[in-house]
Amino acid sequence: MDKFFYQTSIKSSIHDTLKEMCISASNESWLAPTPINIPTLYFDESILLQDEFLSEFMSKVVTKSVLFRLLPNIGYGWHVDRRRQCVINMLINVDIGTSYCLFTDKKPEIESFPIYSINYIPEYYYLLNTKEFHSIYNLDKPRYILSIGIMQDGPIYSDVLEIVKELSEKRSWG
Ligand SMILES: [Fe+2]
Repeated sequence: MDKFFYQTSIKSSIHDTLKEMCISASNESWLAPTPINIPTLYFDESILLQDEFLSEFMSKVVTKSVLFRLLPNIGYGWHVDRRRQCVINMLINVDIGTSYCLFTDKKPEIESFPIYSINYIPEYYYLLNTKEFHSIYNLDKPRYILSIGIMQDGPIYSDVLEIVKELSEKRSWG
């Protein structure tokens, strides 16, 4: 479903470092900025440059990265991102529970509409088109996600998709 998201074949080489950051961060370090109200950990983004794919990607596209902690039994309703064109996400491999990240191309206010789910494989990078309607329903466990934002003044999803595909086809990563 390239229209909504693209699963790369690129495994993160800095996953374990980010996982350690998530696990060891105190509760107070997770801030909940408005308007998204998702517990967010800000970190030194230079660590991302240790990953060969991200280093190449970030030399072409300006990004703003955070770690998110989705709490259990919380949903984030249908929306399009206002501040971000698209994101590269990576699920951190910490006690994975049941969670849904859904997209639709119909305005989700009618009685029924098509939905498309990302089945995240942890430790792999995914590009998401956050200008399409999406929602998240996180059920039983806290869920940690690296989210690399391409901001509103950056390139649009289709252009970023080209770059990501080009980089992922260039060589086999991870
Ligand atoms: Fe969003």
